[in-house]
Amino acid sequence: MVFSKAQCLVLLLLWNFTDAGRIVMKMKQRVRDVQLQRAKQHLLTAALQHVKEGRIHQQLDHFNRQDANTFPQRFFVNEAFWQRPDGPVFLFIGGEGPVYEIDVLAGHHVDMAAEHGALLLAVEHRFYGESINPDGLKTENLAHLSSQQALTDLAVLHQYIVQSFSLSRRNIWISFGGSYSGALSAWFRGKFPHLVFGAVASSAPVKAELDFSAYSDAVGLSLMNEAVGGSEKCVSAVREAFGAAEALMIRNVSQVAKDFRCCQTPKDHQDQVELMQSLADIVMGTVQYNEESVLMSISDLCGVMTNQSAAYEEEREPYQRLVKLSQIYRSSSEEPCLDVSHEKTVKDLMDTTVQSERRAERQWTYQTCTEFGFYQTCEDASCPFSGMVTLRSQTEICLELFGISQNSLPGRVAFTNRYYGGDEPHTHRVLYVNGGVDPWKELSVGNRTDGGEEAESVFIRDSAHCADMSRGRVTDHRSLKNARQEIEKHVESWLKTAQQEKKRTEWRYLITNR
Ligand SMILES: *[C@@H]1O[C@H](CO)[C@@H](O)[C@H](O)[C@H]1NC(C)=O
Ligand SMILES: *[C@@H]1O[C@H](CO)[C@@H](O)[C@H](O)[C@H]1NC(C)=O
Ligand SMILES: *[C@@H]1O[C@H](CO)[C@@H](O)[C@H](O)[C@H]1NC(C)=O
Repeated sequence: MVFSKAQCLVLLLLWNFTDAGRIVMKMKQRVRDVQLQRAKQHLLTAALQHVKEGRIHQQLDHFNRQDANTFPQRFFVNEAFWQRPDGPVFLFIGGEGPVYEIDVLAGHHVDMAAEHGALLLAVEHRFYGESINPDGLKTENLAHLSSQQALTDLAVLHQYIVQSFSLSRRNIWISFGGSYSGALSAWFRGKFPHLVFGAVASSAPVKAELDFSAYSDAVGLSLMNEAVGGSEKCVSAVREAFGAAEALMIRNVSQVAKDFRCCQTPKDHQDQVELMQSLADIVMGTVQYNEESVLMSISDLCGVMTNQSAAYEEEREPYQRLVKLSQIYRSSSEEPCLDVSHEKTVKDLMDTTVQSERRAERQWTYQTCTEFGFYQTCEDASCPFSGMVTLRSQTEICLELFGISQNSLPGRVAFTNRYYGGDEPHTHRVLYVNGGVDPWKELSVGNRTDGGEEAESVFIRDSAHCADMSRGRVTDHRSLKNARQEIEKHVESWLKTAQQEKKRTEWRYLITNR
């Protein structure tokens, strides 16, 4: 076996994002950072000695038997809870970022593993983290980066783990994941039902969508939602502020650059779009993570946008509130200025060196161009941000970076939905968990009936993106606590069903072999 003991708890950030906007990416990173810190407080160093790190050499192209090239895929195993030999296997699927020891040591799935005596696995996605060859980021090599290849990696890993741990059909596999990896969890069950008995898919955008304008609309609705501290007034203030910023940008771009402390004055339309995107990102990230975020909650944001007692010039009021919001972002993120250079963005993304295992933006951009879209546009009248962020402006990057024509994108996205089933996947024993204030819920499977059969789902009225995946906290809302219990019930019932099926099969075997 190629296992080695995990050296130490790497408390680096789990760079894990599903967003086009760079600021939302940074916020996601910080949310994971805070979650890791929190998890660390609960961990004993002793727990670490149960974690083993492994590598498996996966075929670079599972769909071409002539191609013998491989890449090393990293995974972690925690046997501490495992009730040998028949205990279940809980597989935590990595998404668009590295996995770490912590993924088999903390989180709701780990608590459930302890409950059910499960063997815990966390596996890194190909081309992210350390699971990438040195030349992996070159455009011609990115051709092997796809969700289909990633799912096949999981099937191969399944076989490898079965052999390494002498598992049998009696060991029931359940998969877990959140965001993109939540979709992978659902798809793994959908495509390989003989390998995984049940799947939990948290905040999983299983439906690919080129023009994800619904994202901004959902952000607008959350800003209006009084249950989470929003109001009609808040969303109008945001809308007015963006309108004012756009208008001023036409009149005097240097003034706008000065007010928002841009690192450089936007020199062309593309830079102006970057600025508008960054400002929208601050609001989007706040809503997506709400109370999980380290920046501020929806209620804080609406406090700034609607605070009557703050002194502003009446005429420029909404605009000044937006300036204030960007100040809060800069000071909390310790960024001296707001980067708005499109040229710099492209240059960073063109870099093909794998200098850090946290590099993920280039790879994820490739996957949005080739498989998923997910472009958070603002062309609808209902979008509260700047209409300068169009589908055209968002997808230019596909051509600039990878030579993928914008016209080819609709076909690619449509294929993804045909291949996996979109938001009507007809899956069985897949639990879709979504949060009411998470804009990504729009691309997941909700409480509607799916081909006559009700899809299993949990809807958490007032929670954000992937909130259910972390270990419970005393401060969690009632709805989130209930949702975790609901998830536990599903997992428990799957394991029970598996037991019964097993007994039936054994019984049948006994009868037919008498
Ligand atoms: C534009 O803004 C800059 C920076 O505040 C200012 O110096 C300049 O006078 C303004 N130009 C016009 C035409 O208002
Ligand atoms: C409103 O503005 C006042 C004065 O600037 C400030 O003291 C107060 O903290 C603000 N409240 C909120 C909720 O932002
Ligand atoms: C979804 O179903 C659950 C349980 O059946 C229910 O509690 C929840 O309110 C429903 N959510 C929506 C959005 O209809």
